[in-house]
Amino acid sequence: EKGNHRHYMQKEIYEQPIVVAQTLQTYIRPFEQQVALPDMTFSFADVPRITIVACGTSFYAGMVAKYWLEQFARVPVELDIASEFRYRQPVLEPGGLALFISQSGETADTLAALRHAREQGQKVAVVVNVPTSSMAREADLLLPTHAGPEIGVASTKAFTCQLAVLAALAARVACEKGKLSEEEEKDIVLHLTEAPAAMNAALAHDPDIEAMAPLIAKARDVLYLGRGPDYPMAMEGALKLKEISYIHAEGYAAGEMKHGPIALIDDNVPVIVLAPSGPLFEKTVSNMQEVQARGGKVVLISDAEGLAQASEGTIATIEMPKVHPLIAPLVYAIPIQLLAYHVAVAKGTDVDQPRNLAKSVTVE
Ligand code: F6R
Repeated sequence: EKGNHRHYMQKEIYEQPIVVAQTLQTYIRPFEQQVALPDMTFSFADVPRITIVACGTSFYAGMVAKYWLEQFARVPVELDIASEFRYRQPVLEPGGLALFISQSGETADTLAALRHAREQGQKVAVVVNVPTSSMAREADLLLPTHAGPEIGVASTKAFTCQLAVLAALAARVACEKGKLSEEEEKDIVLHLTEAPAAMNAALAHDPDIEAMAPLIAKARDVLYLGRGPDYPMAMEGALKLKEISYIHAEGYAAGEMKHGPIALIDDNVPVIVLAPSGPLFEKTVSNMQEVQARGGKVVLISDAEGLAQASEGTIATIEMPKVHPLIAPLVYAIPIQLLAYHVAVAKGTDVDQPRNLAKSVTVE
């Protein structure tokens, strides 16, 4: 079933261009170049606020979605991890939309949060990979990902499919709120349809990533830095690494380093910097240089343009195709997954079944 792959995780990483394309097919009308969502009983035009709730990797997908929804639809978005949401007495506006993201659709904390939101008069939308799951059954709006079964405990393809659905959702909400012209919507659709090919181009750099893995495998701590939507991607990269290689890792907003975490930097700490060229590039690079000045060993992940500008002093670089900022998270997911994968393989850990973890977390 793994085909010629050594682990399910590797197979699932490689499936991403196809399953993201499959997922996008159900959310895009190719001829009209419009985003299409399943039939709905309410309109996003009437939604004053969106509350996103999820756990783990699905939470990081939600965090990327917050950037998109606020940027495109100008709708205020709140974001919470499910185990905190119910207990902090969140203030939920009547008629608000609560959006739950879950690969399994069964995560106990997320399901409990969903029920709480419903009791508080929220409309409930879910992005799930299992269309028969509890969350799917309890939703007003079901937005399935079409990643297919995910066997590896570390979520990979479900995550990028979540991002694809969430990008389409953000565009749809923006249209209904009158914040996107037809041209702008077409533009978003066009960039989304470019994602699978760009993800393939990212996968082509697997040998470079495999080659540098032994370097990272020796580390005790690893930091990941990014700005904007690459900030949640930095946290996702750190989560992938810690859960399957057992190396301590943290993701930070690049600009936050100087407020504390930079004290951790010495020449034993690899720092993975996610910096696609674009409006946030210069700022991220100057944070990266602060790290280099303290002896931090930087691995820069960027496109050819970014690498040409900023590779100096790095210990390694990973080249990504140049993509529109909208789809950068879908593309930059690939090198962070592959890096975690190869580091875990180098360390000899159980990649598909990491210790202490379960695929579906049904306890609170
Ligand atoms: C990390 C991972 C977990 C899950 C989390 C939520 O690789 O897989 O962090 O993302 O347990 O699970 P779902 O998405 O099923 O609600």
